Amino acid sequence: MKPAINELPKLSNSVEDDIHPHHGFITRDKRNTELGHKSGVIWLTGLSGSGKSTIANQVERMLFQQGFTVSILDGDTLRTGLNKDLDFTKEGREENLRRTGEVAALFAKSGHIVLASFISPHHKGRESVKNIIGENFYLAHVDADIDDCISRDPKGLYKKAMFGGIENFTGVGQDYEKPQQADLTINTSGNSIAECTMQLVSFIKSNFTL
Ligand SMILES: Nc1ncnc2c1ncn2[C@@H]1O[C@H](COP(=O)(O)OP(=O)(O)O)[C@@H](O)[C@H]1O
Ligand SMILES: [Mg+2]
Repeated sequence: MKPAINELPKLSNSVEDDIHPHHGFITRDKRNTELGHKSGVIWLTGLSGSGKSTIANQVERMLFQQGFTVSILDGDTLRTGLNKDLDFTKEGREENLRRTGEVAALFAKSGHIVLASFISPHHKGRESVKNIIGENFYLAHVDADIDDCISRDPKGLYKKAMFGGIENFTGVGQDYEKPQQADLTINTSGNSIAECTMQLVSFIKSNFTL
């Protein structure tokens, strides 16, 4: 039965007026207590080849073995699925970070310690994910000399970019803005993989204990 004319609803100004998110019974605090640690995001920024994925994988393995609920969101992996429609232009990178920030925030609310490794070359983009994620966001700069990254070139991308095969490649066609106020700086040019891993593991243990 249609409602009486004097009961007609006020028309929405936008689609968002008609969306009403549900907040479940299991809060973030309850999850954290159950899992035994805080949850949040460590955002690893750095040049391609600086060591973000290598360190994230070592740290994930070590923490998982010790009972932490920990996950990786990796730029390259997300670009093969959720973000595969995006390019590396300014707009493409912004949308890549926006989506990833939203996914990371959901994981963090679900109790995970998220290791997010994304070149994220610009201050503005990193600030935007920080604002999306909010609580327990930490910026870690995985810092390596560009010459080291070029000689490591684990994916052969610098070589390709230098020969003009990749547009907008960070460090070649596009600049990388070093973070001015990172919560942690991991220098992978002067330290071994094991040392860098321990540095991040210690940082997480001291910031994510309840
Ligand atoms: N201290 C270190 N930390 C991390 N990676 C290192 C270190 N020293 C050398 N490497 C090497 O550098 C490369 C980093 O590659 P990768 O982790 O894929 O970088 P990114 O994810 O930042 O693009 C790997 O080949 C790794 O073995
Ligand atoms: Mg990587």
